[in-house]
Parts: sequence; C-alpha cells; structure tokens
Amino acid sequence: MHVQMAVTMQLTPFIPKLRRLRSSHNLNFHNKTAATSIIACCSARNSSEAEVLVSEFNPKIPIEEAVTPPTSWYTDPSFFQLELHRIFYRGWQAVGSTEQIKDPNSFFTGRLGDVEFVVCRDESGKLQAFHNVCRHHASLLASGSGHKSCFVCPYHGWTYGLSGALLKATRISGMRNFNVKDFGLIPIKVSTWGPFILLNLEKESLPLMEIDSTYVAKEWLGSCSEILSTNGIDSSLNYVCRREYTIDCNWKVFCDNYLDGGYHVPYAHKGLASGLKFDSYSTTIFERVSIQSCEGSSGESKDNYDRLGRKAIYAFIYPNFMINRYGPWMDTNLVLPLGPNKCQVVFDYYLEHSLKHDKDFIELSLQDSEKVQIEDIVLCEGVQKGLQSPAYYVGRYAPKVEQAMHHFHCLLYENLKK
Ligand code: FES
Ligand SMILES: [Fe+2]
Repeated sequence: MHVQMAVTMQLTPFIPKLRRLRSSHNLNFHNKTAATSIIACCSARNSSEAEVLVSEFNPKIPIEEAVTPPTSWYTDPSFFQLELHRIFYRGWQAVGSTEQIKDPNSFFTGRLGDVEFVVCRDESGKLQAFHNVCRHHASLLASGSGHKSCFVCPYHGWTYGLSGALLKATRISGMRNFNVKDFGLIPIKVSTWGPFILLNLEKESLPLMEIDSTYVAKEWLGSCSEILSTNGIDSSLNYVCRREYTIDCNWKVFCDNYLDGGYHVPYAHKGLASGLKFDSYSTTIFERVSIQSCEGSSGESKDNYDRLGRKAIYAFIYPNFMINRYGPWMDTNLVLPLGPNKCQVVFDYYLEHSLKHDKDFIELSLQDSEKVQIEDIVLCEGVQKGLQSPAYYVGRYAPKVEQAMHHFHCLLYENLKK
C-alpha cells in the first residue's frame, strides 16, 4: 500500500520535467555591429517557450495557498536568457562601490549577463560608464581595475579617452567613410546612491546626461530610501574589503535563502543564531525592497567582541542586491547570474570610522562572516542539486516567515511577463 502511494506521488513531478526538457535549448547572444542595439536585439527572440514557464507561477494566489515557482525557473537555459533581458537589462542595477573609483582616471570593469562594462572617472572626475568592447573587432578593452589616462585596446591598439572618445585608430589609412567621432565607446547610464554605483542598461529609458540621484533613489529604492539612510546605510562608513564566492546554484537560490525571514538560521547557522533574538524578527515589504530586521543579543558577548550589535537590518533590493547593517558593520551582497546553475556573490564590507584600525576586531568579524557564508553556500548548492532532481517540482511557503521570498517571486513574475 505504502509502496503504491509512493510511486503515484513520485510520478506527478515527472510530467512538467519532460515539458521542460523539450523546451530547453541554448540561446546565443549575437553581437551586433551597431552596439546601441546590444540590449534590444534578443529581447524578443525565442522567448515564447520561456514565457510559458513564467506562467507556471501564479502571483495572485495568496501565500497561504501558493506554491513556489517551478524548478524550470532555476534550471532552464532559455528562462535564464529571458531573465537577463527582462530583469537585469532593465532598470537600475547595483554594480559596485564608489570606493572603487575615488579618483580621476580610476576605473573598474565588470560583467552583468552578457554585458561587459567599464566604469570610470574621467580626467575631470566625472563618473562615466561604457560597454567595455572595442569598436574595431570587439576585443574587450580594459581589464580588472586601477588607474589609466586612456584605454588602449590590447588587440590592435585603438585608443579611447576616459570620456569614451576614440582618440587614435591605428593603421587606418585607406579606410573610407570613417569618422572617429562615430566610433567612441558606447555609453551606459550610470549613477550613485550612497556608496553604491548603479548602471541602467536600458537604451531608451533616460537621456544620457548627468542623472539626478534623487530620481535614481526613487526608481531604485521607492519609498524606503529614507528608511535605509536613517538606519545608517550611507557613505560615512569606511570601506574594508571585498570577498567573492562562486556558487554552483542559480542566482535566485541565493536570494531565496536570504529572504526566508531567518527560517534557516537556527538550523544552519547555530553560531549566528546565538547572537540574535529571534522573537524580534520582523519583515516589512516595500515596492521593490524588503527589509528584515532582528535585535541582537548585545551585552551577552564575551571579551567586548560584539559584531552584531543591538539591531541587524537586512535590506533586499530587487533583483539581486542585499545591504546588511549590524553593529558597526555594513556589508553588501551582489548576486551576479553566471548561468542557470551558477552565480557569483560579491561581498563588500564597510565599518564605522572608530573601529577602522582595530585589526583584531576586523579579522575576527570577517572570520565569523565567512563561516556564515560557507554554511549558506553548502545550503544553496544542496538546494540546486535538489531542484535538478526529478523528485521535486514546486514547494510551499511558510506564510509567517517567508513573505519577502514570496514578494521577490511576485516581482520576478511581473518583470518577466512584460
Ligand atoms: S579589436 Fe581593438 S583595436 Fe582591434
Ligand atoms: Fe544563511
């Protein structure tokens, strides 16, 4: 009897899995010569099958009855491409810290989906961002980060200024109908909020000019930008360091883990749990942001070591940026999608001024934080394997604690639908 029941229950999940296998295929992102159409070119291509997968989640069902998005959202290559175009190539996206480009002529490079970018300050200190692709034969132009007075292409030496202009095109004598003015780097809209650098890869949304950061705050954070500022998320902190982790899971698995209202903490982070008062845990939902907060068990710390302080705030900014403010610390987690089954998480650590020379405190705190990250990585990679298993198709929400996760999935649905 029990065996029969088990067989019947296990058969159901295989049906959507088969559908998923039929619909999955790789979509290559062809580079266009007209670089301004990079983002637009494949937004509509072959997305219909992925769109069917979007409809497998219903945001109208209340959390008490809802099922989570199906496994295809976390594993399917065509769904991943749809996400890049409809989520990451739209609106403001956090990409780094103002610390990375403090001086004129400083720059850093990065990649978001298939978009290679370089952010820099030109000679006059003006913030600029460009597609990091040479206009000659598409070589990547700059790499890493540092200071430069111009970008010289490593392939054939075409040279661009930090304001994007093509300054020198080598050995082009005999070339006709060529105007250097038309071959500058392709600009990207860039702005800042607090210590964060934001890019907007949408081609049409805003004119390319100095973008007002109040406007950006409203678009990026909605009504909670003031709440974040008044909770100590600002530019007054000292930058400490960066840690990067490549994780074998879909980028949303990491976000989901962050958004479970502390559900996993007592089971998976016993060390962290002892520093938090769980009965004070709360979640508040804003338009595109959710804030989880929890009181720390301050005063119970040994040896004056108090990494978490009296209150911890965990702000999730849709789609992939987290700001954690606790005790004297702030850290940010940027979750970069690398493929359906892989992401990179970039942690930037900031500390209050008074502790910036306290090496022991910094080292101990970073060790404790690292321990939590490793615990989360093990969980996330385990979940990804489970999502790829034929035994699982959708799950359920714990309504009292997983509201932020449900909100995240509803926002994804809304974005992916149009
Ligand atoms: S690809 Fe850059 S100079 Fe040729
Ligand atoms: Fe965790």
